[in-house]
Amino acid sequence: MATVKTVYYCQNCGAQSAKWIGRCPSCGQWNTYVEEVVKKPKASGVKASAEAAKPIAINDINAIDKKNYVTGDNELNRVLGGGIVSGSLVLIGGEPGIGKSTLMLQLSLKEKKLRVLYVSGEESEQQIKLRAERFGIDNNNCYILTETSTDMILHHIETLDPELIIIDSVQTMQSPNIDSSAGSISQIRECASEFQRYAKTSGVPVFLIGHITKDGMLAGPKVLEHMVDTVLQFEGDQHYTYRIVRTLKNRFGSTSEIGIYEMLGNGLRPVENPSEILVTPRDEPLSGIAIGCTLEGMRPILIETQALVTQAVYGTPQRTATGFDTKRLNMLLAVLEKRCGFHFGVKDVFLNIAGGIKIEDPAMDLAIVSALVSSFEDIPLNSKYCFSGEVGLAGEIRPVNRLEQRISEADKLGFERIFISKYNKKGIDFKRFKIQVTPLSKVDELIRVIF
Ligand code: TYD
Ligand code: MG
Repeated sequence: MATVKTVYYCQNCGAQSAKWIGRCPSCGQWNTYVEEVVKKPKASGVKASAEAAKPIAINDINAIDKKNYVTGDNELNRVLGGGIVSGSLVLIGGEPGIGKSTLMLQLSLKEKKLRVLYVSGEESEQQIKLRAERFGIDNNNCYILTETSTDMILHHIETLDPELIIIDSVQTMQSPNIDSSAGSISQIRECASEFQRYAKTSGVPVFLIGHITKDGMLAGPKVLEHMVDTVLQFEGDQHYTYRIVRTLKNRFGSTSEIGIYEMLGNGLRPVENPSEILVTPRDEPLSGIAIGCTLEGMRPILIETQALVTQAVYGTPQRTATGFDTKRLNMLLAVLEKRCGFHFGVKDVFLNIAGGIKIEDPAMDLAIVSALVSSFEDIPLNSKYCFSGEVGLAGEIRPVNRLEQRISEADKLGFERIFISKYNKKGIDFKRFKIQVTPLSKVDELIRVIF
């Protein structure tokens, strides 16, 4: 007789406890513990998996085992760290309706050389076919399976022998080894680990689609994030057509990469040159707008920042920033107040980064300072100017990394003048660019030059 064991799991963070508790000590949420029956693995199963993986001397491991399959989608290659790594387990998270299924089905259909198995626990074959018809791609190497039992799925995988597996979504999967219902923490954990085991032993990459809970966390986040090799997050506003895929964790590459897509009637279009969509062409000059040159991962992007400075209507002036850290905005305002004599203390300040993108690169400081002053003085900036520099507390303009790449991107996009830090000059030959490069050391110097 198998011993039946019950454990209480927090449905929010996956912490477990032998007894029911009202408030989770790990994440602080109330009333999230649910009893789940955990069936002990069969003795034979333990033996079998012990046979599958043996200790092996590090010198005997073939280093070339890690193969990258480079897909036709450069945005996806970028966030995955160069391509799909064989035997990797990738988790794609995002809110419902953001386009996770669309991205994955499109990938399955576009990669005609790969035999792909797309497993859906959410939609019927007819619905998937309808979606596939919108893309207008013909592919007879892509198989659809509507099934939720991991046992059955692994059985079909064995007969079909696919080269890429997509599971849509991991929350709908159910393992017969565990008694709790689909979507619970222990089911998600078990299903993910079954696919992980398959991916590691067969070398076939597996993509898991995961839903996000109301507060923006991946459901069962801690559990899944530890298990998978790569975590991609699909972001974007449903009201805009742009979607951003962000790498949150990657065992095979950098985590600061982003991929940008546009949702069209016939699927997701990779946006290879994001600066074109993040800088709005204008006919008449407007105050409070400045273009900054930032790096997202390895890619330089030019982004528009908009500032609005108005007379404060309440006693305490408001400071609101979208896509930028409000504390850093306050710091920049303090620098302008103290070092350049602008009285922001009596003003409401609103700051917005275009395209719903979140910026952490300090090189945006210079553009933000320029936008703030431009709105304060109500004087438009030349729309052919752009900025790349960090601002320090003393009002000094500090150097930024990979300046050459940034300048060359601004040059390519037809900007006429870029403002940088004086301390950034070494080793770069500015003569090879068409763009005029202006090195400066202080913020007040910048304000004198641009206004
Ligand atoms: P979907 O991939 O179903 O989202 P998820 O799997 O993340 O829940 O995305 C569905 C949305 O995308 C839906 O609102 C319709 C829209 N869409 C398009 O605009 N164009 C298309 O070609 C497709 C397939 C979907
Ligand atoms: Mg879906």
